[in-house]
Amino acid sequence: MKKDVYILGIETSCDETAASIVKNGTVIVSNVVASQIESQKRFGGVVPEIASRHHVEEITVVIEQALQEAQLTPAELDAVAVTEGPGLVGALLIGINAAKAFAFANSLPIIGVHHIAGHIYANQLVEPMEFPLLALIVSGGHTEMVIMREHGSFELIGETRDDAAGEAYDKVARVLGLPYPGGPHVDKLALASDTAVEFPRAWLEKDSYDFSFSGLKSAVINYKHNLEQRGGTLDAGAVAAGFQQSVVEVITVKAVRAAKEYQVKQVIAAGGVAANKGLRASLEQAFTEQGIPFSVPPISLCTDNAAMIAAAGTEMYLSGVRGDLSMNGRPGIQLSSWSN
Ligand code: KG4
Ligand code: ZN
Repeated sequence: MKKDVYILGIETSCDETAASIVKNGTVIVSNVVASQIESQKRFGGVVPEIASRHHVEEITVVIEQALQEAQLTPAELDAVAVTEGPGLVGALLIGINAAKAFAFANSLPIIGVHHIAGHIYANQLVEPMEFPLLALIVSGGHTEMVIMREHGSFELIGETRDDAAGEAYDKVARVLGLPYPGGPHVDKLALASDTAVEFPRAWLEKDSYDFSFSGLKSAVINYKHNLEQRGGTLDAGAVAAGFQQSVVEVITVKAVRAAKEYQVKQVIAAGGVAANKGLRASLEQAFTEQGIPFSVPPISLCTDNAAMIAAAGTEMYLSGVRGDLSMNGRPGIQLSSWSN
């Protein structure tokens, strides 16, 4: 009988300190996330130095807890997978150093995982991947479309030319006076509003799969300024709804076009903005109409977590990928294939 593979995942690239143990790349045995949102809220965003300090305080506790909840000892693990990048370098280093120490102390292999590969593999925790697939990654730092022809193969077909979708959400939320992180608040306001302000759609060139959200963000800011100058009162719900409609329509139309062109068997959404109710509903409807299976992980697996890192790490482990103790934080690392 094939032996089960248990991987400890560690994620500290931004403001969540997370550790998780995943069995065979598909079953979550434990999943611990210590969020700093409460503490970063008063700054209206993530302050790198504060993020690092939180990670230092939490990392050992979170790893211990992941082992305890899984009722496993380090000797029962097969490897440690840790986010190598992209992210805040100081934050990444806390997770990487903890992973190295843990791996060294317990004679385990260490594997460096790309954060976006992690977001994509969160879907493996829900259902198996069918290739070729289109992965739509929408997070605070990324808006990308990637074609995967097999495990570990990533072909970037489009990305944002300026702001990431989540970044635009957070900025618009700030303009509307909503707390950080703004995405979920804008989502809620948008869904509750009966009216929507009309904002532009950034289609870019006809064949492009790239995105752009900074023009839309400026349109929202200009709309607010103009209204204030005229002494009008802002209907935050209508602004949120108009902004969300623009983001959702562009992402949905481009994702459908890409899925058809590349004749994919499955479309998966990943990243924090994939938690957006409006976007999920729009993508679900569009792909049902097209007859293309669409899947998106539950909200807790869309935002940063370590189960997704362990899931991607398991595929890398099974493909023979190994890191070593010279591993360093790589804040700007590109998503590259580990299979050919
Ligand atoms: O993937 P993630 O947790 O961290 C990064 O790797 O960036 O994504 C965080 C981003 C934030 O910008 C947050 O506002 C956004 O995801 N987000 C949402 C929603 N939930 C989280 N954006 C829109 N609607 C949501 N419901
Ligand atoms: Zn992320």
